[in-house]
Amino acid sequence: MLELADGGKGMRRVERYAITPLPKDAIQEGAITKTDVVEAALRDALKQLDTRTRDVVMALPASAVITKRIMLPGNASEAEIDTQVTAEANQAASFPIGDVSLDYQILGPNAKNPNENDALMVLARRERVEERVALAEAVGCRCHVMDVDAFAALTAYEQMAFQLPDNGKGQVVAIIDIGANTTHVNVLHDNQTVYQREHALGGNTLTSEISRRFDLPSEEAEDAKRKNLLPDSYESEVLQPFLDSVAKEIGRALQLFFSATSFQRVDHILLAGGCAAIPGLDDVVHSRMQTSTLIANPFSKMAVSSHVKARQLASDAPALFVACGLALRRFDTE
Ligand SMILES: Nc1ncnc2c1ncn2[C@@H]1O[C@H](COP(=O)(O)OP(=O)(O)OP(=O)(O)O)[C@@H](O)[C@H]1O
Ligand SMILES: [Mg+2]
Repeated sequence: MLELADGGKGMRRVERYAITPLPKDAIQEGAITKTDVVEAALRDALKQLDTRTRDVVMALPASAVITKRIMLPGNASEAEIDTQVTAEANQAASFPIGDVSLDYQILGPNAKNPNENDALMVLARRERVEERVALAEAVGCRCHVMDVDAFAALTAYEQMAFQLPDNGKGQVVAIIDIGANTTHVNVLHDNQTVYQREHALGGNTLTSEISRRFDLPSEEAEDAKRKNLLPDSYESEVLQPFLDSVAKEIGRALQLFFSATSFQRVDHILLAGGCAAIPGLDDVVHSRMQTSTLIANPFSKMAVSSHVKARQLASDAPALFVACGLALRRFDTE
């Protein structure tokens, strides 16, 4: 959980944040399978956060939504648009339309056909949305927006684009978000998404290996990993092979991007997600890929409140990448 505030002079301020790990089977394939465990983790994070705010923005994982670009007539009434969007959703969904939660955003006139608008439609099983809203309510929060994690990552990226040559214009940037179980690859050209894919790669593999090698229960292994409290042999025997395998997987993921598109190069790699905080990952990726590699920090232009330790924030920043994109969303509170 992350709270951003208005820092004045058009600046934002990182007000407070809390990170609570979840057991690996609490959420499976985007469905919340252990509601009580997730609820307890949320309660714990909210308590650590120690805020009066109860207005929240949440996200679904990209794997739980279907995204489709559609065209809508420019002069249609809202009712006509609704009918057309519903028809498109009916085609795109593999489940009954009555179980669908649906939204769309008009992007602007179509380049070839200016009487039509390009629009982005997103749909999900209503159950995936409702279970999250119910969790927020169970801990006393109000969910105002249900975003998608991959979109939120783009919102966070906008805070960082200034660090790239020409603000990312004309550049090919691969955002690689390495989480606990999944790695989300999102490639941008000219700051627009041109390729997205999920891979089964994440820090849980490293935690399991620590747990096996040093005979630790997985919670202790997770804690020791984050706090760097492991024997000397850890670095050479466990961490280095893991970093090499991650770099190799990133190489494969980018090969898939090259073969699926007409692109032949990536100018910058941006590492996000909790695993981007592992010391040395950026160097290993950089030397294997021979491509400029940055660790995502969407807060570098923001002020930091006195509640937050700036050094700790710098190391947690990549894990807060999606949360940052969510906290930047605007909504009305009544
Ligand atoms: N300081 C750290 N050092 C090493 N690993 C870390 C650190 N901080 C977080 N991680 C690892 O990052 C992973 C969690 O990352 P993140 O919070 O991005 O995952 P997630 O989005 O919840 O997972 P997923 O995307 O797979 O659903 C865990 O494997 C965790 O151990
Ligand atoms: Mg993630």
